[in-house]
Amino acid sequence: MPRIVAPSILSADFGHLDREVRMLNASRAEWIHIDVMDGVFVPNISLGFPVLAAITRAAYKVIDTHLMIVEPERYVRRFAEAGSDYVIFHIEATHKVQECIDLIHGAGSKAGLSIKPATGVEAIEPWLDKVESVLVMSVEPGFGGQAFMPAMLDKVRELRRLREKRGLGFLIALDGGVSAENAGSIYAAGCDVLVAGSSVFGAEDPAAEIVKLLEAE
Ligand code: DX5
Ligand code: ZN
Repeated sequence: MPRIVAPSILSADFGHLDREVRMLNASRAEWIHIDVMDGVFVPNISLGFPVLAAITRAAYKVIDTHLMIVEPERYVRRFAEAGSDYVIFHIEATHKVQECIDLIHGAGSKAGLSIKPATGVEAIEPWLDKVESVLVMSVEPGFGGQAFMPAMLDKVRELRRLREKRGLGFLIALDGGVSAENAGSIYAAGCDVLVAGSSVFGAEDPAAEIVKLLEAE
């Protein structure tokens, strides 16, 4: 499987978003990851529709929108229509999982499910044949810059096993504490997409850091 890096805009300089997006456009990152937080599902608030729309207008990359919001069924369609190629919501945030998936697909985007560190893969198993992406959180969602939880790699291996066994096509992504030091082991566990915030935007040369993530062993 080809490796994909998805820099998380949460760690970008919001005073110069245009410059940050142009840097990503020129980089080897194929995706841009956008974290939306509502202050209820997680104890932090990040950004909403106007900022997302500004990024999607400026970006030439695949837009991967990670919703950390309660009752995502109320907003998934608008996030899809604002230019998200993927709309990812949390299994812990709603009972209306199929409704969310249908709304996202109905708006022409790809759908994804995310699980927090305490949630097992079995929680999303019934929908694995309905989504295009699964996002494993390797930190508690809410903030960038936290330490990677290596035990989450077991979920990546389990998802890989289930995908093969059932002949499914969803991408496996991992989010939180990813750096050039651990990227090799995360890809080796079976991940397709690595989300990285602080390691990319905190680097002196973010574009070079993206290459390091892609080529990590
Ligand atoms: C955390 C977000 C992440 C965050 C990752 O809730 O979902 O996408 O930006 O940041 P790092 O890579 O710094 O852990
Ligand atoms: Zn995220």
